Amino acid sequence: MLLENMSYVEVEAYLVEKDIILIPIGSVEQHSPYGLIGTDFITAEAVAREVGKRLDILVAPTITYGMSQHHSGFKGTVTLSPLTLTSLVIDISNSLLNQGFKRLVFINGHGGNINPVKTAFDHIKYQNKQGILQIISWYLLPEIQEMEKDIFEELNGLHATPSEVSITKFLRPEAFKNKPKEKKKVEKIETYFPLSGEEFKKIYPDGRMESAPWLAKEKYGKLILEEAVRATANIIKDILKKKII
Ligand code: NI
Repeated sequence: MLLENMSYVEVEAYLVEKDIILIPIGSVEQHSPYGLIGTDFITAEAVAREVGKRLDILVAPTITYGMSQHHSGFKGTVTLSPLTLTSLVIDISNSLLNQGFKRLVFINGHGGNINPVKTAFDHIKYQNKQGILQIISWYLLPEIQEMEKDIFEELNGLHATPSEVSITKFLRPEAFKNKPKEKKKVEKIETYFPLSGEEFKKIYPDGRMESAPWLAKEKYGKLILEEAVRATANIIKDILKKKII
């Protein structure tokens, strides 16, 4: 069920029965020469929409832009500042909370979003609002990390991973027609975090972080997406059981 396809009358009827909504959030950032700039929001949106369909719960329009300042040295990356993302999440959440939604679950596809989103949650609680605020980062779920290890061993890495690239390849195969296929060296790099855009580009010159995105395959994407949907749906079922205080 997509919020964008509903009328306010239908949302009113939904709120009589349910108080949960999923909000996919990603980023618009480089994913090496092998992956799509939209990777993080495409994956998060796919997980959220499939979970919404299976559990019959509402999914809000995707927050496509995220906090990607560390990728700003690469063309095509469009980032919000950490403070802007925090403000955006506060405003979207308050709009929903003020209408009667009590369980807001952000389905996240990008690591840089986690701190700003959690800061937004703290701020909303500081404003004394009632309800459950949660972020689920699909790629951090233990089931997914195990699966990535089984398929890609040590070559999944931290960014432009064959796992996320596989999902986008499964969802948008036509976007990969002209992407490179050749293998490169995968190096473990000692560094510190967070990194500025310039620092990031010096250490990770082609945009990968210890990953081998050329290993991505549609069939892996199908498997990983299914597991992400299954594991996320289980967490949501627990969230639905919680009593709102
Ligand atoms: Ni990503």
